[in-house]
Amino acid sequence: MEQTLALVKPDAFARKDEVVLKVVSAGFTVEKSAELQLTPARAAQFYAEHAGKPFLDDLCNFMCSGRVLAMVLSKEGAIKAWRELMGPTDSVAARSTAPDSMRALFGTDKQKNACHGSDSPEAAAREIAFFFPPSGEIPDLATGAAQAA
Ligand code: TYD
Ligand code: MG
Repeated sequence: MEQTLALVKPDAFARKDEVVLKVVSAGFTVEKSAELQLTPARAAQFYAEHAGKPFLDDLCNFMCSGRVLAMVLSKEGAIKAWRELMGPTDSVAARSTAPDSMRALFGTDKQKNACHGSDSPEAAAREIAFFFPPSGEIPDLATGAAQAA
């Protein structure tokens, strides 16, 4: 069964129970879940693909502004299905084009958009290992990320 990494971002953390209810109603299984607060270094590492983008610093500050809920979700076609349930990146746009989506219901704008979802199988594997390091690996205390033992 395909897996994806889902985050409930700090802006929607207070409504995480509503998000999880919709996740389960949509047929996903929550395989793993953890509540944590990112550090700036870890947030930058998580969003490494956006290095150099003008919004990265503000995004990392926002992602560290409170706790997040990280989940491994499984379902057939989980990666695409979760991105569909999240809706478009900008919550303002989501409210007109996907009014029942997570970002329409729980987000505010294109930064505070309630949720994250992996965008490919490669990203899902990397992001799942980032939040849920395989056993036998020793976490890097500087970044919190796993390193090969
Ligand atoms: P991106 O990968 O483009 O969107 P998605 O989360 O839908 O895959 O961008 C990653 C995050 O960066 C996005 O969820 C919110 C933030 N972001 C901004 O703050 N400003 C922007 O202009 C964009 C495009 C994204
Ligand atoms: Mg993305």
